[in-house]
Amino acid sequence: MELYDAMRTAFAAREFTPDPVTDEVLTRILDNARFAPSGGNRQGGHVIVVREQSTKDALSELARPAAQRYAAQTAAGENPWNTFVPSQVTAETIAATAIPPGLTEPVRRAPVVLVVCVDLRVVASIDQHLPRVGIASGASIYPLAWNILLAARNEGLGGVLTTMPIAEEARVKALLHLPDYMAVCAVMPIGKPVKQLRKLKRRPVSAFAHRERWDGEAFGG
Ligand SMILES: Cc1cc2nc3c(=O)[nH]c(=O)nc-3n(C[C@H](O)[C@H](O)[C@H](O)COP(=O)(O)O)c2cc1C
Repeated sequence: MELYDAMRTAFAAREFTPDPVTDEVLTRILDNARFAPSGGNRQGGHVIVVREQSTKDALSELARPAAQRYAAQTAAGENPWNTFVPSQVTAETIAATAIPPGLTEPVRRAPVVLVVCVDLRVVASIDQHLPRVGIASGASIYPLAWNILLAARNEGLGGVLTTMPIAEEARVKALLHLPDYMAVCAVMPIGKPVKQLRKLKRRPVSAFAHRERWDGEAFGG
């Protein structure tokens, strides 16, 4: 598949046919995805390949608390889980909010789920002393996660990078026997999408690229 075509059509697939994802295909996906960069080329990424239904069910359950808050904040017009604008949504409102199945069920129903983790002992967290949430650490693992999804697209498969279970990281780690120095970065259901979306809604370049500085003219207009 042509690279730009893959980049423009790798949508968030959440519904899958029952077709299996064989170990052979998965190995090919991971064997190409592994060329993703990481800080200092430390390659701290690990992938847990989950096929057991009981583990998928448990991961799906662990997505529920974060998904409930996500839905409550969305309903209140907030940007869910952001760390900058304090939430006005109360614990009571969150507890009374229905959990959208789309945020929990894909992990339960996908033929395979990949849990992407990173070894914190080798990650350069350059922004660890800044007075804001850490972002830089993710740069050593999300290129791998996205390469996996691009490679899946190239194989006629699809998936979605989900993060909800991370809010319950201690329980995810206990479930998967992850040592304390590992961080859970993504839980990715993968399978053959029921349908392939081709027109993704994304902002044009001029809406996010700026010439020279933030308040410079829009780039690429
Ligand atoms: C960092 C990150 C976290 C995400 N977390 C979730 C998630 O927990 N659950 C989910 O269903 N989708 C999740 N997504 C998928 C996004 O909702 C999806 O990529 C976005 O809406 C674009 O979808 P599209 O490619 O189909 O247009 C996440 C994506 C990213 C990049």
